[in-house]
Amino acid sequence: MKLFVINGPNLNMLGIREPNVYGAATLAQLTSYVREICLRENIEVECFQSNHEGAIIDFIQSAYGVADGIVINPAAYTHTSIAILDALKAVNLPAVEVHLSDVSKREHFRQVSYAGLACEKSFIGLGFKGYEDAILYLKNRLSTAEAKSGK
Ligand code: DQA
Repeated sequence: MKLFVINGPNLNMLGIREPNVYGAATLAQLTSYVREICLRENIEVECFQSNHEGAIIDFIQSAYGVADGIVINPAAYTHTSIAILDALKAVNLPAVEVHLSDVSKREHFRQVSYAGLACEKSFIGLGFKGYEDAILYLKNRLSTAEAKSGK
């Protein structure tokens, strides 16, 4: 089982950026956390962060035929990017949306999630734990699908 874990713009500034909203831990710490969970769960993982919408789209497209599922925190592109939504739909892989903060309790412009429309589930406001929940959700979802198909 292979997952792509994607983080969008400004998440490279975790630890520095608005620690009252996003916490004190860094992207490197988040990436280690994700890798440890995947190691424990026997999942292969590729972690990717970019501040560029096109680079995120290219990475999503590269999942086609390579990854079994996608965990994505599109950050601010969540609320603006139909192109990321379309890329997720194009590869048609099970995808899960994660947000560190509880976007539902924040500004009105954060209330729309385009990417979320292509995701089976969203884990919001749980900090790093949201990534673990997303990975475990996909593991369970993909194992069930495999068992059904008899693979
Ligand atoms: C975020 C929430 C977004 O609204 C914001 O633009 C981010 C981070 C989160 O993880 O809480 O950059 O996706």
